[in-house]
Amino acid sequence: MKKPPYRIVFICLGNICRSPLAEGVFRHLVREAGLEERFEIASAGTGGWHVGEPPDRRMIKTAAQHGVDLSKQRAQQFKASFIDQYDLILGMDRSNVENMLLIAGAGDELDADIQKVRLFRDFDPHPGNGEVPDPYYGGQKGFDEVYEMVLRTCKNLLSQLREAV
Ligand code: 4NP
Repeated sequence: MKKPPYRIVFICLGNICRSPLAEGVFRHLVREAGLEERFEIASAGTGGWHVGEPPDRRMIKTAAQHGVDLSKQRAQQFKASFIDQYDLILGMDRSNVENMLLIAGAGDELDADIQKVRLFRDFDPHPGNGEVPDPYYGGQKGFDEVYEMVLRTCKNLLSQLREAV
């Protein structure tokens, strides 16, 4: 019998910089590995300001320079129901994780499912302080650094998950 796809969602604040990049890079790697049927991949923001918008044009440009197309992605907001819907829910920084737990109303009945909510950089072989910094208010250098971090982490994430799923 065919296994259902493994469902993974990347979460940041606005869903226009960091998590759309992670979605696009992870999808790109999954496609290269011929594993599209094994994964369902999405991203969202804990804030709703940019819902329906494409990613920030600086992020689109940075990704495009590495052959990753983000232009068709549109921002959506994280909802409590994601906790049931997804198998792995990765926050780009600690405030994203805290905000998800607040939105999901973390309580007794969530205790088992809450293990699904992790920091993205838990999968980074060089995790630094464990967070992907928000490049929104900085210059191009910040976008390039975020790209390198996200690529390295997504590669490691895929190599761990392809054994497990
Ligand atoms: P992101 O960056 O969380 O990586 O998408 C941000 C983009 C926009 C805003 C905050 C963070 N904002 O406040 O509009």
